[in-house]
Amino acid sequence: MHNGLEQWVREVAELTQPDSIYWCDGSQSEYDRICNEMVERGDLTRLNPDLYPNSFLARSDPNDVARVEHLTFICTEKREDAGFTNNWMAPAQARAKVRPLFDGAMKGRTMFVVPYIMGPAGSAISEVGVEITDSPYVVANMRIMTRMGKIALDQLGADGTFVKGMHSTGDLSPERRFILHFPSDREIWSVGSGYGGNALLGKKCFALRIASNMARDEGWLAEHMLILGLESPDGEVTYMAAAFPSACGKTNLAMLLPPESQKGWKVWTIGDDIAWMKFGEDGRLYAVNPEAGFFGVAPGTSTKTNPNAIASLHKNSIFTNVALTDQGGVWWEGMGPAPAHAIDWRGKDWSPTDATNAAHPNSRFTAPASQCPGISSLWESPQGVPISAFLFGGRRAKTAPLVFQSFDWNHGVYVGAAVASETTAAAQGQEVGVIRRDPFAMLPFCGYNMGDYFAHWLAVGARSDKLPKIFHVNWFRQNEQGNFLWPGFGDNLRVLRWILERCRGGGEAVETPIGHVPAQGALDLRGIEAQVPASAMEELLRVDREDWRAEIQSQREFFARFGDRLPKEISQQTEATAKRLGL
Ligand code: GTP
Ligand code: SPV
Ligand code: MN
Repeated sequence: MHNGLEQWVREVAELTQPDSIYWCDGSQSEYDRICNEMVERGDLTRLNPDLYPNSFLARSDPNDVARVEHLTFICTEKREDAGFTNNWMAPAQARAKVRPLFDGAMKGRTMFVVPYIMGPAGSAISEVGVEITDSPYVVANMRIMTRMGKIALDQLGADGTFVKGMHSTGDLSPERRFILHFPSDREIWSVGSGYGGNALLGKKCFALRIASNMARDEGWLAEHMLILGLESPDGEVTYMAAAFPSACGKTNLAMLLPPESQKGWKVWTIGDDIAWMKFGEDGRLYAVNPEAGFFGVAPGTSTKTNPNAIASLHKNSIFTNVALTDQGGVWWEGMGPAPAHAIDWRGKDWSPTDATNAAHPNSRFTAPASQCPGISSLWESPQGVPISAFLFGGRRAKTAPLVFQSFDWNHGVYVGAAVASETTAAAQGQEVGVIRRDPFAMLPFCGYNMGDYFAHWLAVGARSDKLPKIFHVNWFRQNEQGNFLWPGFGDNLRVLRWILERCRGGGEAVETPIGHVPAQGALDLRGIEAQVPASAMEELLRVDREDWRAEIQSQREFFARFGDRLPKEISQQTEATAKRLGL
């Protein structure tokens, strides 16, 4: 047994005073028992086993339905090391302020010790974490989302290192809710929330905020990226990783099913939210998915938009804040025809004439990745997969074209730094649909000063001549009437194909001031000619000088806030773009 682990568990128990301590082994019988106990207490509803075998519905507290960015802190000695994009508290001050919320917090509850691996077992890219929690919901979700239990203790051994995560749901009051990160101690404290990214500490807290610090120190990358393999009709598979902000299409792109007209093409899923990448001996970047499951946005997920997600969640899954049908199944907006009656996410009677949503806009499914019909045979490969292209993107009604390619690595890093997107329901306490700058889709997840993070990306580029090519995509451009110009979902394959051609040295392109866009006819539009007429295509790829004047101004203001922590390269790239635009 690991000495440091045992001692830390003892310390946490002394502080939180649970009735009992339980070490999770990760077995199926343990999972079944924990879920059954929650059903008996009324904390989970078992779904109809004929429709969704071994699956459950959970309803969270109505004020605990998404990440809370305003209550999330990076605790470094110096404020500048967290940077202005993060909330900051000094470590000693943070511990003094939040420790009392853990004091006796587990009285009357069981304290679960949850050892887990982020990444495939035995991989040199993987890391071990241990979450201590009083939430059986967290335990059940962690078993789907990570390699949890004995397997992790085995990997940790007697003297391995691990990231500590202390979690209590507390009293769920937003006034007593804090998500704290201590990068230099590789430690996380989370209290007052039982939801997703606030409470499943392996995910955003460890795999992004703490891991981004480890990655900077050790020369690798921890990113908010999906990983996919694009198989061409000749059977060759090319791997790509894409960073889009929360609820902007990562899960959907990772599980893309090509449309009828695209014979012979296939997309394989490696991951849908997070990528950890290290250089291989051949100078290429190799990526693993640190997670073992999907914590996906439910609304909008249907057999039409994302059949592989629907296939993944039909058994052994947990649904959070969706609607319950009279047949004991689940329903959400965008799944298909609404049932005449359902119980909504708040537990109340609902019918389609009601003005409210049946499912919360940030309701989620937790499903094992192994159940995805398109899961790659290499998804658990310890070596990871070699990445040929990075895609950055956001939700932009205007300005950003459907796709463009950066001129080179440094320009691509600037393109990543300049990502902006409309806000979504994935974070609480902010208006939805407002444009905010979200560099690399990491604004809420970078665990240190983002100026230093840009510098890290630039430094990574100096280490190899076999780097991925960098692209920017936008599936969400709208016409004057506010309708999407691009059909999206499966049809995004057409854009991936152009990206692949560009990686192979082909793909016809036109140079614009912001990068290369597909030449007329370079995207295969067979089958969607009526939906996307030439005029729409022109608008999708148009670089509007007035839109870009405002965009450049917004970038300048944002980048200026980094002060001397902004690498000069980034502001030079902004000004070079402005010059090319004739601004
Ligand atoms: P997180 O899990 O929060 O990180 O989100 P995500 O980036 O994985 O987003 P996801 O794929 O779950 O998509 C979020 C929403 O965007 C869903 O409602 C989707 O239906 C919708 N969406 C995804 N791809 C497209 C697309 O190509 N076009 C359009 N119009 N909508 C899309
Ligand atoms: C996101 O918000 O980017 C998510 C969901 O993937 S959560 O796990 O809550 O972070
Ligand atoms: Mn995410």
